[in-house]
Amino acid sequence: MKPLSNAVLALAPSMTVAIDTKAKELQAAGQDVVALGAGEPDFDTPDHIKDAAWASVKAGKTKYTAPTGLAEMKTAVCAKLLRENGLAYTSDQIVVTSGVKHAVSNVLQTLLNPGDEVIIPAPYWVTYPELVKLYGGVPVFLDTSVETNYKITPTQLEQAITPRTKLFLLCNPSNPTGMVYGTKELEAFAKICVQHDLYVLSDEIYEHILYDGRQPQSIAGVSDQIKERTLIVNGVSKAYAMTGWRVGYFAGPKHIAKAIGALQSQATHHPANMSQYAAVEALNGGLEFVHGMVKEFTRRRDFVIHELRSIPGVKVPLPEGAFYALPDVSSVYGRKTPEGKVIANSLDLCAWLLSAHLLAVVPGAAFGDDRCIRLSYATSMENLVRALDRLKRGLGALA
Ligand SMILES: Cc1ncc(COP(=O)(O)O)c(C=O)c1O
Repeated sequence: MKPLSNAVLALAPSMTVAIDTKAKELQAAGQDVVALGAGEPDFDTPDHIKDAAWASVKAGKTKYTAPTGLAEMKTAVCAKLLRENGLAYTSDQIVVTSGVKHAVSNVLQTLLNPGDEVIIPAPYWVTYPELVKLYGGVPVFLDTSVETNYKITPTQLEQAITPRTKLFLLCNPSNPTGMVYGTKELEAFAKICVQHDLYVLSDEIYEHILYDGRQPQSIAGVSDQIKERTLIVNGVSKAYAMTGWRVGYFAGPKHIAKAIGALQSQATHHPANMSQYAAVEALNGGLEFVHGMVKEFTRRRDFVIHELRSIPGVKVPLPEGAFYALPDVSSVYGRKTPEGKVIANSLDLCAWLLSAHLLAVVPGAAFGDDRCIRLSYATSMENLVRALDRLKRGLGALA
């Protein structure tokens, strides 16, 4: 048979999804696995949002609409951007997508020509480099470490720019690091991007999952010049516990929204109407729900970080947003398991923690930093207590 597309064959399957799938298989086989791999809130979608979806179906709103999304949804997105971010957009600058992953994919597919470079701070969300490569671009990584709180500096950004650089990819708050860039840092990044004529792809999916009184902030709000070149992607998955509804959106310059609209009209059309009606209700319904989740995430974050820091050799910054802890565990590499296997890297460690201690966490290698592992604390306190106990026992058993 003839070969498949080279670009698709070169795609690395998502390691976070792979770990989650493996953990679920073991659970289905009756194993008592504690899974901290998935990146989704463990809360249920609020009832008023579900009700809005049923109501739209009952009202017969079940037919094709505009490929760029429902007018009501675009209006709700514009109102949200103004109310929560102080950013003025019009409906022709918005495209409703099937989740934020799809919005990221659309932006990259629309912008990239072969050889265009995309600057990505590492550790990064697993999907970014794969999509950049899929669309012919070249990911350029900026390394950070636990010592720099997993943050890049403006100088690092500036030094990575070449004549081929097209886009700076900013995930703020960050998955997987949990770090948040503040006003001064965003201003410095914005200045550099304007000076060097770069676009910024700003992934703001975790904007409301912020700790210790931090407020959401988009780089688009820094100046009019940066707003013109910022491509915001956001959605309802994390803030409203709606990962399965698959609704996200793009907000940015009109000509890019138009191009993404053309792409979407041929490739996917609009997300399901009932999901969009649910998302309209979510966006118009206030932030009480997400603030309640954040209160609970704060309690879990504090527990997880306290426990991680009590393990000899483990280093971890205090997450400022999102719901992940990213400890540097490289001090155990080179040690042996009781069964005699040498743990050489994060993949070995995570495979062994899953098989020997029934704990599913994600290897840092998936995010471009082999020194660490990622734990999601979007799960019950009971699970976290068991998980940290298993991790402590696991790491303690390595000699
Ligand atoms: C940084 C980041 N962007 C986008 C997404 C995907 O969001 P969605 O489920 O809306 O596609 C995720 C999900 O884990 C994420 O962590």
